[in-house]
Amino acid sequence: MRLDKFLCDLQLGTRSHVKDAIKKGLVSVNGVPVRLPEWKLDERRDTVIYMGKSLTYLQFHYYMLHKPAGIVTATRDQHETTVMDLLPAGCGKNLSPVGRLDKDTEGLLLITNDGELAHRLLSPKKHVEKTYYLECSGVLTADGLAMLENGVDIGDEAVTQPAKVRLITRSDCSYHMELTITEGRFHQVKRMVQAVGGSVTYLKRLSMGTLSLDTDLPKGSCRPLTEQELSDLKQLTATTPDR
Ligand code: URA
Repeated sequence: MRLDKFLCDLQLGTRSHVKDAIKKGLVSVNGVPVRLPEWKLDERRDTVIYMGKSLTYLQFHYYMLHKPAGIVTATRDQHETTVMDLLPAGCGKNLSPVGRLDKDTEGLLLITNDGELAHRLLSPKKHVEKTYYLECSGVLTADGLAMLENGVDIGDEAVTQPAKVRLITRSDCSYHMELTITEGRFHQVKRMVQAVGGSVTYLKRLSMGTLSLDTDLPKGSCRPLTEQELSDLKQLTATTPDR
């Protein structure tokens, strides 16, 4: 990679700004000042120092977003605000949301440019658990709840994979619960609940695999994943067997 591109990708300034800095001898590579913006680096091995700071090249970026309702999960949209609009400017290139939350769904959304990890998290073969908190109305019988747990016909070719249900409160025709599913079918939670006689009135994703929504992260905000969160996710998808 060219030295000026390396510095630009790290958001250290515009291309012309970093070229100037390089020409002024403010950048050294492996201890030697390099004044050529087109200098070819091995960005994973070479030590680059700019204004006294050692720079590390991050190939991939990983953000946890606390998605609010009213925002669409897409990389761009002509008319609507997308989840990408909630990321700070210059936070990395080629980022995409991992999976999709409906416009009215809130909660955890991972955004990354690591296509390999995204693919593994979304692969139906990996059965990565996604836990949702939901509120619903209607009448959910014990049989209906058992159907959610065992597999329910939501009009697709196959019934849903077994899910975990944790009922939190129930009063008259209103239920609060957590539902853990291992697939990512279109509107899956809403359709599962509908298939057993309920209607989802509020939906929030709490976790995906080992990654849990940071309860200190305000709605509409994002933060980079910690090293621990990232290594846990990588380990999970590396070790979960393809069934
Ligand atoms: N299931 C749904 O129905 N909606 C979502 O946004 C996510 C899962």
